[in-house]
Amino acid sequence: MDKVRRIGVLTSGGDAPGMNAAVRAVVRTAIANNIECVGIRRGWQGLINCDFVKLTRESVGHLLSRGGTILYTARSEEFMTEAGRQKAVTTCKMLGLDGVVAIGGDGTFRGALELSRLGVPVVGIPATIDNDVGCTNYTIGFDSACNTAIECIDKLRDTMQSHERCSIVEVMGRNAGFLALYVGTAVGATAVLVPEHQLDFEKDVVERIRASRLSGYTHFMIVLAEGAGKATELATKIRDVVGLKPTITVIGHIQRGGAPSGRDRETATRMGYYAVQSFVEGRGDCIIATQEGGIVEIPIEEALTRKKHLQMDRYKIMEIMQFGSHED
Ligand code: F6P
Repeated sequence: MDKVRRIGVLTSGGDAPGMNAAVRAVVRTAIANNIECVGIRRGWQGLINCDFVKLTRESVGHLLSRGGTILYTARSEEFMTEAGRQKAVTTCKMLGLDGVVAIGGDGTFRGALELSRLGVPVVGIPATIDNDVGCTNYTIGFDSACNTAIECIDKLRDTMQSHERCSIVEVMGRNAGFLALYVGTAVGATAVLVPEHQLDFEKDVVERIRASRLSGYTHFMIVLAEGAGKATELATKIRDVVGLKPTITVIGHIQRGGAPSGRDRETATRMGYYAVQSFVEGRGDCIIATQEGGIVEIPIEEALTRKKHLQMDRYKIMEIMQFGSHED
C-alpha cells in the first residue's frame, strides 16, 4: 500500500457495546499517524450514499463508556449487489479514502471482502454480542451483553424463588449459543438450550427439572438461546409433561445496549489501534483477531472460512454444576 492519508471507519450489522470505543481508538491512532479519519454513517449503505462525518480527536471524546454506535448501523441489501458496491467504490474515490475500517460481525466481513476485491483495502474489527466470528476468540460486546443478561436473570431469580416458579429466559443468539452457555453457567441455570445441540426434551429438560426437584429445588431456570427453539412451545411442553406453568422472559435487545464493560473497552481500544497500524505498516485486507491473549491479523478470505465451535466441555461443566454426575 502507498502512504495512507485518509481512512474511513464504519459500524455495520447488529450493534454491540464497545463499538464506540473501537471508533475512538481508530480515530485517535489515525491522528497520531497523521492520517485523517472520516466516519461513514449507517454501515455499507452509508458508503453507497456518501453519508459521512469528519471525525476529530475531540469529536470522539467521552465515547469509551457510551453504548450503541455514534455512526449508526444498518444491514444493506444494496451492498449485496455489484451495482451497490460500485457506488461504494465511487464514494471511496470521491472522499479520497485509502482504506476502510469495518466494525461488525461475519456479515460485515463478507462485505469487506467484496470491497477489497474491488481495490479498496479494508481492515475488519470483530464486534458482535454473539461472539460467533470464527477467526477470533473474542468479539467486542460479548462480555457486556453477558453481564447485562446475568444482571436481569439474577433479579428474575429473586422473584422466581419467592413464588417457586419455573422460568424460561430467552437470550440472544440466533445461530450461536456462546452467550446462552456463558450466561447459563454464570447464573446456575437448571438447563441451557443452544442451537448447536439438538434438543432432547426428555433428557435436556424433563430429567433436569426432576433431578433438581429431587435435590430440593422449588424454582427452575431454563436459559434458551433464541435460535434453539420457541419459548412458547417449550413452556407448553413443560406444562404438559412436568405440570409446571413456566413464565417466559425475553431479554431481547436490552442485551445489546448499555455501557460497555471494562473488557470490551480495553479490547476495542487495542483492536482499533492494531487496525490502523495494519494500514500504517502497509498491509490491510485483514481481520484483527484475538488468539491466546494476543492480537493477530488474519487475511479476510481466510478469516471467513474459520469456524468456531461451542465449547462442549463448558456445556458439560454447566450440567455437572447442577447435578454432580454425567454419563459420558
Ligand atoms: O447482534 C447479534 C444478534 O443479537 C443476534 O443474536 C440476533 O439474532 C440478531 O442480532 C437480531 O438482530 P436484529 O434484531 O437487529 O435483527
